[in-house]
Amino acid sequence: MASPIQLMSVSALIFVLCLPTAQTGRILVIPVDGSHWINIKILMMELIKQSHELTVLVPSNSLYIDQSSEDFHIEIVPVTDSHALTRDQFEEFALNWIISNAFPKDPSTFSLAWDFIKTIKTGTSVVSLLSNLFENKDLMERLGTAGFDLVLADPYTVGGVMLSNYLKLPLVFFGRWMPSEDIHFAIAPSPLSYVPVINSRVTDRMTFSERMKNVLLYTLYLVSTRFFVYPKYDELSKRYLGTDLTVLEMYQRADIYLMKVDFVFEFPRPTMPNVVYIGGFQCQASKPLAQEFQEFMDSSEQGVVIFSLGTILKTLPLNIAREIAAGLAQLPERVIWRYTGEQPDTLGNNTKTVNWLPQNDLLGHPNTKAFLAHGGENGVYEAIYNGVPIVGIPIFGDQYENLLRLKAKGAAVMLESLMNVSSRDIVNAVRLVIDDPSYRDAMRNLSKLHRDTPIPPLDAAVFWTEFAMRHGGAGHLKATGNNLPWYQYYLLDVILALVLTVSVCLYLVWRVLKAIIRRTCCPRRSRKNKRD
Ligand SMILES: *[C@@H]1O[C@H](CO)[C@@H](O)[C@H](O)[C@H]1NC(C)=O
Ligand SMILES: *[C@@H]1O[C@H](CO)[C@@H](O)[C@H](O)[C@H]1NC(C)=O
Ligand SMILES: *[C@@H]1O[C@H](CO)[C@@H](O)[C@H](O)[C@H]1NC(C)=O
Repeated sequence: MASPIQLMSVSALIFVLCLPTAQTGRILVIPVDGSHWINIKILMMELIKQSHELTVLVPSNSLYIDQSSEDFHIEIVPVTDSHALTRDQFEEFALNWIISNAFPKDPSTFSLAWDFIKTIKTGTSVVSLLSNLFENKDLMERLGTAGFDLVLADPYTVGGVMLSNYLKLPLVFFGRWMPSEDIHFAIAPSPLSYVPVINSRVTDRMTFSERMKNVLLYTLYLVSTRFFVYPKYDELSKRYLGTDLTVLEMYQRADIYLMKVDFVFEFPRPTMPNVVYIGGFQCQASKPLAQEFQEFMDSSEQGVVIFSLGTILKTLPLNIAREIAAGLAQLPERVIWRYTGEQPDTLGNNTKTVNWLPQNDLLGHPNTKAFLAHGGENGVYEAIYNGVPIVGIPIFGDQYENLLRLKAKGAAVMLESLMNVSSRDIVNAVRLVIDDPSYRDAMRNLSKLHRDTPIPPLDAAVFWTEFAMRHGGAGHLKATGNNLPWYQYYLLDVILALVLTVSVCLYLVWRVLKAIIRRTCCPRRSRKNKRD
């Protein structure tokens, strides 16, 4: 005789087996190296939890992307790259690059734009990677017959759009940046009167000269990328995809755009029905701290300042580190600083340097008073989530723009340049955000708004990815506007026709009036002539 308990567990098992199995899908993931990978992996792990099967395309020379995994399949794309670097070499190279390129105190807009364009141009090395991929007949055959339901891609490189076009699969983008610009500019109306372009350093309230700058900058990006960057990709897509669609048009035809943006943070702007905002998807309730951190945090009477400059910049030139350490030493608060370089002699006894820190968990601790940060996307959202005001030191990329948005909302103070930072600047800025409660209040307000959402952003990302698989895309959400020729999109043909019609009418009216005037006036004139 089976005991009641055994019977119960057997029936429970039967019950579980009889539940309708959730539909699982096969997803091909095209990631981008570095912090982009860390982000997309969060979504991937969530999709794996829902029992979808994931395959990731990994270039053999990538630095941060996993080359083996228990959780997902990996297809290595062999790349012949004579300049391949190790991760340490890359980080050293990146440090040197950052040190020599970090935002100078008052850069001209033009020099920022030029640097941005140079970065985009180096990005076109993706062309050789893609040729390697499409020439690899075995691999392409395997991908073609694997029965994928969907391509999930980071839009920062063109691999995703090209592969989804080649494999004729629905495409879900995860990210905000195309090689050239914020994808919004390619798919949604983006009035330059209040939507700032990257590196413009302006907010959504622009003066006349700021609007001028925004327009000129956008024109510069448009011309340089449309003439010098995208044609290289278009050549590839002609060769390997046999399509006349330009790569830009493929970007406009994705099914779902999962944008790492939240309007708590970004300035409101027009958008499209297939754009899903998932800013802050990486944030989680803080977990208990390791003992080393817990004791330090709990026993700090004046509170703690958390200081990190991101994944790549773990160290600094010694003269800058000395200056910063001297500033931190003057604070009554304690400081946890992620720093692996040589210990500066000015380091105070209130400052703890660590090789790594559990950033989100530390920001969630009630004793945390301020976050000294470079303004990278992850850190910014973690600070918003936890309601901790920021002292920002922007270094490169979109960091200045990120911090500018928080500053405009009264939730951050910005130090203009890492290179010229003095201990005094550090002390003043930290004192300001801690002693003036408006910064903390503003950030707490943002935090409340950010968390007050019907569906957490990561769940939304999973839902819309599955949605695209269930329905073979999201064609009903794609606006036709993006398939129109530009003269139709801007109604230039209609405007021209209207102008012509009005001109013809005016001309006719003028002719009629002239005729009437001649009839009524000219006889008089001729009588006058006769009298003469
Ligand atoms: C830390 O340094 C300050 C002055 O620099 C000193 O007053 C204080 O006693 C020191 N604290 C500890 C725990 O050593
Ligand atoms: C900023 O620092 C750089 C190099 O460290 C120096 O050449 C420059 O003169 C400094 N600028 C100012 C305004 O202090
Ligand atoms: C925060 O929100 C409250 C109302 O919810 C408002 O009264 C207060 O002014 C806001 N504080 C800041 C600094 O924006």
